[in-house]
This record gives sequence, C-alpha cells and structure tokens, in this order.
Amino acid sequence: MQKNLRPSGLGPQLGDPLPASRASAETLALMRLRRSTPADCLNDPGPDEPTLASILTIAARAPDHRRVTPFRFVVFEGDARIRFGGVLREAFIAREPDADEKKIACEQRRFLRAPVVVAVISKVDRNHRTPEWEQILTAGAACQNMLIAASAEGFAAQWITEWYAYDARVLAALGLDRNERVAGYIYIGSAKADPKERARPVMAQIVTRF
Ligand SMILES: Cc1cc2nc3c(=O)[nH]c(=O)nc-3n(C[C@H](O)[C@H](O)[C@H](O)COP(=O)(O)O)c2cc1C
Repeated sequence: MQKNLRPSGLGPQLGDPLPASRASAETLALMRLRRSTPADCLNDPGPDEPTLASILTIAARAPDHRRVTPFRFVVFEGDARIRFGGVLREAFIAREPDADEKKIACEQRRFLRAPVVVAVISKVDRNHRTPEWEQILTAGAACQNMLIAASAEGFAAQWITEWYAYDARVLAALGLDRNERVAGYIYIGSAKADPKERARPVMAQIVTRF
C-alpha cells in the first residue's frame, strides 16, 4: 500500500511493499493521448534539476531481466549542448566535406533545439545469461519510460536517433565502449505548438488470437 512507503523523495526503498496495480484514469488518458513533439518545435523551459532527476529515476525503472541495468544516461544541458555542437560540426564535416556552412551550422545546433537532451546508452553485457536482445529491449523500455515521465511532468519530448546516433566520431566523443550503442537521444522541453494525431496501427491487422 502507498501509505507504507517511506518518504524517500524519488521513490520506494529496497524491499518496500508496493501495490501490484494502481488504477489510474489519468495514466490511461496520458498514454492514450501521448504524442511526440518534433525537436524543432521544442523550446525553453525544460525540467529543473529535481524534476529531471525524477524523470531519469522513472526511466531507470524499466523492466530488466536479471537486473543487468543494460543502459546509462548522458545528460546535456546549457553549455554542454554547445560543446557537443563542436563534436557534431567536426563529425559532419568529416562525413560531408563538401557541405556548405549553412548546413554545417544547422547540424552543429542540433542539441540547441531543446533545453535538455538525454542520450540513452544501451550497454550490453555479452557474458551475461540474459540474452543480448533482451538487454537491448530494456534500453528501449527506458526510453519509453522517459517519454512518459516527461509528459506526466508537463514537458514535451521526442526520441530521436538521426545520423549522430551511428557516427563513429560522435560515439567516440561520447565515450562509448565497444558494447555500447545510442538507443536514442531524448529531447525534452516545452512545446511551441501542440502536435496533431498521426496515423496509428489498425488494431485488427496487428492483433490475433492463438
Ligand atoms: C529508436 C527510434 C528512433 C527514432 N528516430 C527518429 C529520428 O531520428 N527522427 C525522427 O523524426 N523521429 C524519430 N523517431 C520517431 C519519433 O520519436 C516518434 O516516435 C514518431 O514521430 C511518432 O510519434 P509518436 O511518438 O507521437 O507516436 C524515432 C523513434 C524511435 C523509437
């Protein structure tokens, strides 16, 4: 029961009793209506430190077979986004040496589209009993948890990869190990305008009964 939880600020303590379920019309509405906001449509303000800490803590509560913790987060805020822009600039020039300055400057500004960007790093332990595939799925679940937590905190967000999730120079600058990949960059901020609904799967085409 909720009343048994110690007031830890960010969540329950190890061994605390937790509710097996928690009926929440608000959660259902949030998930039914949640939409990504394109990074170009994000703006200040972003979450403050305690709110971001809460978003990251909720993201880290992703289901995780055998508690591998196959992910980590790299947070970019303020000037760190400008410094990372230098990395993007050099990496982009190396990829496209003939690109004009306008295009290069646009690539350099990518992280300036939102006040907070979190790189979610998938971190696979290949010697672990838990299959690699499951560890990767957990990193994806952490990304989705982050989007939902950001939305519930009142912020707009988008999960992006773009070219710099795969560029060797960028990955080296991020300090990625050989067993690590970028699961996504989660851009978090405030929406300049509300998004519209997009096409969704036709449920009859994707749901069958065995
Ligand atoms: C792994 C992954 C990578 C993505 N990368 C991009 C991207 O690079 N650029 C982009 O516009 N959308 C990207 N998306 C899609 C958006 O995050 C978003 O899911 C999509 O626009 C649908 O919007 P919705 O979340 O409101 O359904 C990616 C999604 C996932 C799951």
